[in-house]
Order: sequence, then structure tokens, then C-alpha cells
Amino acid sequence: MIFRQLFDSTSCTYTYLLASRRGGEAVIIDPVLEKVDRYIQLLRDLDLKLIKAVDTHLHADHITGLGALRDKTQCITVMGEQSGVDVVSMRVSDGDRIDIEGVNLDVIYTPGHTDDSYSFAMADRVFTGDTLLIRGTGRTDFQRGDARAQYESIFGRLLKLPDQTLVYPAHDYKGDTVSTIGEERACNPRLQMKSVDEYIELMNNLNLPNPKMMDVAVPANMHVGLAQDDVARRGWAFTPSQAMELIGQRGVVLIDLRERRERERHGIIPGSLHAPYPDLSDNVRPGGLLHELGVAPGNRLLFYCAFGERSAMAVQAAQQAGLAGTRHIQGGIEAWRKAGGQTVPVG
Ligand SMILES: [Fe+2]
Repeated sequence: MIFRQLFDSTSCTYTYLLASRRGGEAVIIDPVLEKVDRYIQLLRDLDLKLIKAVDTHLHADHITGLGALRDKTQCITVMGEQSGVDVVSMRVSDGDRIDIEGVNLDVIYTPGHTDDSYSFAMADRVFTGDTLLIRGTGRTDFQRGDARAQYESIFGRLLKLPDQTLVYPAHDYKGDTVSTIGEERACNPRLQMKSVDEYIELMNNLNLPNPKMMDVAVPANMHVGLAQDDVARRGWAFTPSQAMELIGQRGVVLIDLRERRERERHGIIPGSLHAPYPDLSDNVRPGGLLHELGVAPGNRLLFYCAFGERSAMAVQAAQQAGLAGTRHIQGGIEAWRKAGGQTVPVG
């Protein structure tokens, strides 16, 4: 496995890059905007294709690299379903999995530091965001933080992981890089409380100053969505209502770019084919499934995904591959459903 722990010394943020092999797919956790060029260089050095960029929560102390990485690599951005971010490509919830080739992250909802805080677990390690830090825990006094919820997330979820599980947090201010669940249970001063009430009392009286970047970082991090209007201005988008009129017409091939779990959870638009976004570049190049469908006389491809980001990137890739009739549904299946569009369970 390829595993890199990268550090931003301004915000003391740890960013993690994971891949199963050189030349394979990669996922990045908690990227920092100012470091994006460094990540891109590292991806190039290791011959990796970035598939997903994930934030454990909406950060208050640095601007996320999610949007910039998506714009530079066409990767999928991922955050939790509770997040106040405007648009990400994919939203996850407790029990989901974030998959790339050879790496699977179990999604654990661990609110408390914020109400959109998640941890991501693999067989031997867990990325704890700001929920559980090394010898500390993330503050709970803003962004709908909640000390009781955090106590439950830590004691009820994270500390239930095997003792030897490696703990990789989103920050460290003292120079530590990694710990274990067992070590934190035994040595983390915040976890030595006798009761949840004692923990709440402690957390509610930390009296910390707000992060220096907070007034800049929070609003910036709320707006990372891809500018779908640009795609629409080029004439490559249909609103859900426009799409409804088209569906069923001869030659219109509706393509769902989401992953299996998203389809099972949220249903599909009837009659759509499934072609997951990570396979897109293979699918749209000559000889690929979507290329052959798209060039067949009279055919027009119509992409959709969850919120319109993957489909907006896909329509641009298809146009570049010469599939001029390709369009996407702006706002994805969420907008489709809000506009009264029908969905059915995946058959
Ligand atoms: Fe945080």
C-alpha cells in the first residue's frame, strides 16, 4: 500500500494520500488548498490517478483543497451528508464505504467537533478528523459542535475499534504523528473522565480563541461546488424538467454515473444505464462503451449523477472525445427528484 502523511505547517493539518499500488487509483483525505500543487506533483511522481478527495468535516482553520483538486484532476469530492458545503460530488453517511481500487474506507459518523464530522476506518487504521486527536479531542464550541455527541462518538464508536488500530488525526500541534486506539484510551487526558457530564463540563470550559482563519475558511469551505453554470452556458446542460421531456425519446441514452451504493440508497431514473464515473475516461475514448453508444447514428447521451458535478465533468470529457451530442442533467438526481422526476429502486 502507498500511504503518505503530509503536513501543512500553517494550520498544523495532516493530509493523507492512499493508494494500493503505483500506477493505480488514489484517495486523499483533508487536503489543504495551499498544498494542492504539492499533492499534484506527488501524484505525478507516484504515477497515481486521484479518484476521490474527502474532507472529514467542514474545516474552520484552513481552506480545503477539495475544489482545486477537482478542477485540476476531475476527481470526485466527498463529504458527509450533514455538511453545510454547497455542493460536493458525493455525500456519504454512516455505514457507507468510500472505495477506490484496492482501498476501502468504512464511513463512521462521529459528530461532536462539528455536526458533519466523520471518521474513516481501514483494517489497521482510522482517520479520525478532529474527533479524536493524539492526547486530545477536537473543540466542540462552534459549527454546531456538541460535547455530548463527541463523547458518544469517541466512546461509543472509535474506542470500540481494536486497541492496535492506528489513529491518524487531522491535526497535531505538538509533533506527534500517529497513535493507537489503546494508547489513546489509556493516555489521552480527555478520555479519563468518570462520566459524560464531566466531559461536557471540561469541553464547555476550554475558553479557546477562535481559529485565526475561521472568518475566511468557513465561508470559503461552504462554497467548493463546481460552477455548473459554465457547462450550462455552453449548451451542455438540461434542467430536470427539460430532461423529463426528452426521456423516452428515440436515441436518448440516459447514463447514471454514480456508484452502486448510491444507486441502491437513492434509486435510479427509470431506463438508465450504469457507467460509474471513475471508469469514464476508458468509456468515452474510441472503442469504449460510451463512445460506441454516443457515435451510433441518432443517439444522444444524457449523463446524470447525485448533484450534477460528476455529470458536468463527464459531459466535458465526452465533448473532448468528440461526442458532441452529449448533455447532462444539471443538479443531478437530487434536483431531478425536487422537480418531481420519477425514481425507481435499482432492479
Ligand atoms: Fe476542525
